[in-house]
Amino acid sequence: MAMGASSSAVLLAAVALVLCGSAARAQAQTPVFACDASNATTVTYAFCDRSASLAARAGDLVSRLTLAEKVGFLVDKQAALPRLGIPAYEWWSEALHGVSYVGPGTRFSPLVPGATSFPQPILTAASFNVTLFRAIGEVSQSSFTALFCSVLFFHGIYNFHRHCGAAGSGRFGSGQVVSNEARAMHNVGLAGLTFWSPNINIFRDPRWGRGQETPGEDPLLTSKYAVGYVTGLQDAGDGDSLKVAACCKHYTAYDVDNWKGVERYTFNAVVSQQDLDDTFQPPFKSCVVDGNVASVMCSYNQVNGTPTCADKDLLSGVIRGDWKLNGYISSDCDSVDVLYNNQHYTKTPEDAAALSIKAGLDLNCGNFLAQHTVAAVQAGKLTESDVDRAITNNFITLIRLGFFDGDPRKLPFGSLGPKDVCTSSNQELAREAARQGIVLLKNKGALPLSAKSIKSMAVIGPNANASFTMIGNYEGTPCKYTTPLQGLGANMATVYSPGCTNVACSGNSLQLDAATKAAAGADVTVLVVGADQSIERESLDRTSLLLPGQQPTLVSAVANASAGPCILVIMSGGPFDISFAKASDKIAAILWVGYPGEAGGAAIADVLFGYHNPSGRLPVTWYPESFTKIPMTDMRMRPDESSGYPGRTYRFYTGDTVYAFGDGLSYTSFAHSLVAAPPKQVSLPLAEGHTCLAAEECASVEAEGEHCDGLAFDVRLRVHNAGEVAGGHTVFLFSSPPAVHNAPAKHLLGFDKVALAPGQTALVAFKVDVCKDLSVVDELGKRKVALGSHTLHVGDLKHSISLNV
Ligand SMILES: *[C@@H]1O[C@H](CO)[C@@H](O)[C@H](O)[C@H]1NC(C)=O
Ligand SMILES: *[C@@H]1O[C@H](CO)[C@@H](O)[C@H](O)[C@H]1NC(C)=O
Ligand SMILES: *[C@@H]1O[C@H](CO)[C@@H](O)[C@H](O)[C@H]1NC(C)=O
Ligand SMILES: *[C@@H]1O[C@H](CO)[C@@H](O)[C@H](O)[C@H]1NC(C)=O
Repeated sequence: MAMGASSSAVLLAAVALVLCGSAARAQAQTPVFACDASNATTVTYAFCDRSASLAARAGDLVSRLTLAEKVGFLVDKQAALPRLGIPAYEWWSEALHGVSYVGPGTRFSPLVPGATSFPQPILTAASFNVTLFRAIGEVSQSSFTALFCSVLFFHGIYNFHRHCGAAGSGRFGSGQVVSNEARAMHNVGLAGLTFWSPNINIFRDPRWGRGQETPGEDPLLTSKYAVGYVTGLQDAGDGDSLKVAACCKHYTAYDVDNWKGVERYTFNAVVSQQDLDDTFQPPFKSCVVDGNVASVMCSYNQVNGTPTCADKDLLSGVIRGDWKLNGYISSDCDSVDVLYNNQHYTKTPEDAAALSIKAGLDLNCGNFLAQHTVAAVQAGKLTESDVDRAITNNFITLIRLGFFDGDPRKLPFGSLGPKDVCTSSNQELAREAARQGIVLLKNKGALPLSAKSIKSMAVIGPNANASFTMIGNYEGTPCKYTTPLQGLGANMATVYSPGCTNVACSGNSLQLDAATKAAAGADVTVLVVGADQSIERESLDRTSLLLPGQQPTLVSAVANASAGPCILVIMSGGPFDISFAKASDKIAAILWVGYPGEAGGAAIADVLFGYHNPSGRLPVTWYPESFTKIPMTDMRMRPDESSGYPGRTYRFYTGDTVYAFGDGLSYTSFAHSLVAAPPKQVSLPLAEGHTCLAAEECASVEAEGEHCDGLAFDVRLRVHNAGEVAGGHTVFLFSSPPAVHNAPAKHLLGFDKVALAPGQTALVAFKVDVCKDLSVVDELGKRKVALGSHTLHVGDLKHSISLNV
C-alpha cells in the first residue's frame, strides 16, 4: 500500500489542516451517505429499501447505471452520482492498530484531533491473548466474554477454563475501541467505513520491513489474530450488518518490500504448493472462513510468475470459490497499474483491466480500472456482466455497512461521536495491550526494580525518549504519548542521555561521555535502543540483524560504566542479533517492547517496576546475523541440507537462535502437570479397500473423510503458579509429527493464556482433532495425517502418541 505516499504529503496535509481549521470543523459535521430519507425521490429507489435483500438492492442499483457510470464504482475514489443521490466515497481507510490517517478516507481535525494508538500488531500478538486481539478491535473484556464463549471453537481447539457467562455490560459498553472510534469519526465525516487492515502476511524473514505490522511467523497465531481483530472490527451484532469492514491483506506470499534493490512491485515469489498451503494461505483462509472478513486485498508481487491481482485461481478459485468470501476483493494501491507498467505482464492497459476483473478483482485502489475498463469492454476483452459482478460485490459491502440506509447518525452506532474517541478506558486498553505484549528475555534478578530501594535512574539511548517511534507505521495521531523517559520518570528521579542523536547512531553522533557519566552516577541504568522507520519500514527491508550503527558500542560502554544494574530495552518490530548482550555479565536484564503504541513508556515502567508481571512471548525467531547470508528472496520454508539452506521460522529452521519463538520470562514460575494422559495410541478406522490397508508401507492418510469423524482426544493439564507474584502464563501445545512429507520439526496446535495468583492452579484443556490438528501439508498441498509416532509438547512435558490404521 501507499505507493508514493510520502511524509511531505502528510506534512502538507497537516499544514492545510491548520490553515483551514475552521473550514474543516464546519465540513466535518456531515457524514457521507446515500438514500437520504428526507428526499422524496431517493426513498422510492429499490436500492434504498432496507427491507429488500442485499442482492435485490444491489441488483436494482446496477440496473440503473450506464457502463461509464459503473466503472466509477471500480476504484477507491468512488465517483459521486448526483442523479441517484450517491455521494463520492473514499474506500481507502486504515486501522492497523488504531484509526490511522494513512488512507485518504480518514483524517483528523480539531473536532477529533487524535485516536487511540495501540501497539504495532507484532507486540500485541506477543500477548498470545485472543481476548485482547478482539478487544482492541471492538469490545471491552466484560462485554466480550459472552460473545467469546459462543465462538470458542477454532480449528477444533477449545478451552475449558474461561469464565464464560461472566459477561458485564451490553454490547455498546465503555470499552469498544477501534471500531467504535472509527464509527465515531465516520459520523462526523472524518472516516470511511472500509478499513484495509489487518496485515496477516507471515513474517517469514526477520529482515522484512513490514514484519512489525504482522502477528509474527506462526500460521496458527496469525490466524487467531486475524479472526479476533477482524471480528472485533466488523461485528455489528446482527446477521449481515457490518460495524466497519475489515480487509485481510496482502494476498499472498507477500513479504519482500525492498531488499538490496529487489522491489515488491516486480518480485516474483517462487513458492511450492506445499509452502503455499502450509504457511502462506492458512491465515487468509481463517480470515475468510472463520473471521468472515468483508475483504481480501491482493498484493503487488507475482506468485510463480502470475501477478496475484490477475490470478484467477487464487482470486476466483480459492478466495471466492473454495473459501466463499462474502465481500469484495481489492487490489493493493496501484497493483493493476503495477502489473501493466512495472511488470509488463500484459500488452495493453485494457488487457490488464480485463484480466484482473475477470480473475476476480472487484475494486482497484488507484484509478487504472476507471481509465481503462470502458475501452476493454468495447474491445470485447471482458463483458459488462464481469463489471456488474465486481460492482455488485462492492455495493453489497456498502449496503451491509448502512451506506445506503440514509443518515448514519439515525442508525445503530449513530450515537457515537467525538466523545467516544480517546476515552480513558480506550487509552487504558492501549497501555494494557503494551504491558501484555512486552517480552522479558533475560533477567539475572535485577527485575522487578524496587522503587523504594533505588533512588535514581539513568535513562539512556536513542529510543529512551521515543514518542512517534512508538507508534510504528500505519499510525494515526495518538491521543497523547507517554515516552519511556516520562513513564519511568513518573516513578523516580531520572537523568536522561540519548547516547546518539538517532537510532542510526553513526560514529560521529555518539555521545559516549554524557551517557557513561549518567550511568556511572545512577543506582540503575535503563538503556532503550533498537530501531524506527528509518531502519525497517514499508519499502525498506534490512540487510543486517545487528543493532544499527554504533548502538552495540553505546550499549557495551554504558553497561561497563553503570554503577547499578543495566537493563537493556529493545524497541523494534523485527528481531535483532543481540548475542553480545545476552552473554554479557554487565547486562542484568533484556526486554523487547515492539513498537508499543502511545502508552508504551507507561507500560515499560509498569513492567520494570513490577506493577505488571511480564507474560509476552516472542512471536518470531531471533536469528543470528549469519542468517543474513541466505537471500531474503528465497521463499523456501524447508531446510535443504545439500545446499546448507537452514529453513525458516521455528517450524523448519535448523540453525542456532539468539532467542526462540515462544521465549519469554516471568517474575514468577509456573509448573505443569497432566490431569489425565492423552491416549498412547490412536487408530484410524479406514474403510475397507483403502489403499493403505493393502500397502506394505503407508506413510500417511488423507486428513478428511469418514475415518476422521469424531477422531479427537483431550489434553488436559494443571498449571500452577509456584512463585510469589501473580502473573499471566501462555501454555503452548506443539506437536512433532513423524518425518514424512518434509513435515515441520514441530508446529503449534493451540495456545491458551491463564492469569494466576500466587499458589493458584488452573485447568487448561485442548481438544485435539486428529485429522485437523495433527495433519501436515504434503508436497501437493493436501493435508495428510502421518502414521507413526507424534510427540506432543506442552509446557515442559512431552507425550508420545502413535497413530496407526
Ligand atoms: C433528491 O435526490 C435526487 C437524486 O435522487 C436529487 O436529484 C435531488 O436534487 C434531491 N432533492 C433535494 C431536494 O435534495
Ligand atoms: C521527551 O519527549 C517529550 C515528547 O516528545 C518532550 O516533550 C520532552 O521535552 C522530551 N524530554 C527531553 C528531556 O528531551
Ligand atoms: C567493556 O568492558 C569490557 C571488559 O570488561 C571490554 O572488553 C570492552 O571493551 C568494554 N567496552 C566498551 C565499549 O567500553
Ligand atoms: C487477556 O486480555 C484481556 C483484555 O485485556 C484481559 O482482561 C485478560 O486478563 C487477559 N488474559 C490474561 C490471561 O492475561
